[in-house]
Amino acid sequence: MKVMEIIGGKDLTGTIRISGAKNATVALIPAAILTDEEATICNVPEITDTDALCDILKALKVDVKRASESVVINPKDMENIEIAEEYSKKLRASYYFMGALLGKYKKAVMYFPGGCSIGARPIDLHLKGFEALGATVKNEKNKYIVEAKELKGANIYLDIASVGATINIMLAAVKAKGKTVIDNAAKEPEIVNVATFLNNMGAKISGAGTSTIKIEGVDYLHQCFHEVIPDRIEAGTYIIIGALCGSPLKIDNLIPEHLDALISKLEEIGVDLEIGTDYVITNKKDTYKSTTIKTAVYPGFPTDLQQPFTVLQTQCNGKSKTVETIWENRFMHIPYLNKLGADITVKNQTATILGPTPLKGDDVVATDLRAGAAMVAAALKAEGKTTITNVEHILRGYESIIEKLTSVGAKISLKDV
Ligand code: UD1
Repeated sequence: MKVMEIIGGKDLTGTIRISGAKNATVALIPAAILTDEEATICNVPEITDTDALCDILKALKVDVKRASESVVINPKDMENIEIAEEYSKKLRASYYFMGALLGKYKKAVMYFPGGCSIGARPIDLHLKGFEALGATVKNEKNKYIVEAKELKGANIYLDIASVGATINIMLAAVKAKGKTVIDNAAKEPEIVNVATFLNNMGAKISGAGTSTIKIEGVDYLHQCFHEVIPDRIEAGTYIIIGALCGSPLKIDNLIPEHLDALISKLEEIGVDLEIGTDYVITNKKDTYKSTTIKTAVYPGFPTDLQQPFTVLQTQCNGKSKTVETIWENRFMHIPYLNKLGADITVKNQTATILGPTPLKGDDVVATDLRAGAAMVAAALKAEGKTTITNVEHILRGYESIIEKLTSVGAKISLKDV
């Protein structure tokens, strides 16, 4: 078992470079099978979610080569084999193979995806979208068989602006006959990144980044070269860490516009920020003004930054609140923040944080990916030693986190126990 040990209370000085976005990468890798030619994706983060998707590609007899920061995918000898449960359960995003295989072969057989336990995480909207395109969906225990004689473009309205459903329907529709319109589509930057990739391969997608996406089906997709956008959630996590411990801390290679909601909240509470074209510099302050955040679909405050942001709220003066509207089980980090000295109560979907409270090192658990990021942020601020278990959650989403934080002065290490 691996644990992370952090000796906190240190100032962090220097530059952290942001990696490619996990949530774009995990869709781009499955999307690459839609061509029969070679796709090169660069700025791919070295995280265990990338490894898990490359393992699925290999199981499907796809040729995958990884060089530093890039993945070259060639599906010319690919076979449409059932994706075993041991692969699909490793991560949520394995479900993008459903849309991609359906789009390519008109048939996908795989098991219910895994991922963080942050809520029920149904995939009904994905399946409804596939059905609207002409597919039938059979569900035997945990296994899904989705197939179609022919995929035909359709008008699809999403009841919820789901990131996963928007991308999965896009993947299934790019090679369907005729035009598909997705209304109430999610608008996250990762969706734009995936649409650009598909368009570079010859797809005809317009409107990605707005709530109406139009897809004109094409017969063939060709080779392409594509770059993953910077990870806005990784960037936001380190900016929050900068507000807690920066002296000063520069977060480089990011797109500030993707972080507008976070940045405006940081400005509201009084964080010292310098925002450049592709960087943010932060300096810690002793205390901040309290605030309320409410998570929402993009461009609202990202649910994936809610947990790290709560750590900052423990250092705000007075009563702060966090309202979680996307996931029903995203407060599992709170008991551990309280163990480190925070004063937080949770009622329904709202956490109330009283601050400022000093944080002190202790043993905590990374209950999910972003809860793990919150533990790291809190441990860096806390005096003394914090030991974090279940760190595999953190390693799923943060590339070289130990090296990046060590390079700016953190005392952090990964140990086998
Ligand atoms: C993606 C992100 C995740 C982020 C989330 C919301 C990836 C790999 N993960 O997850 O980090 O927290 O967006 O920004 O990109 N829903 C349904 N039925 C469905 C699909 C979703 O009811 O078929 C509900 C979910 O339960 C949730 C909401 O819609 O309440 C949003 O989910 P969705 O946007 O689909 O999240 P993911 O794509 O799973």
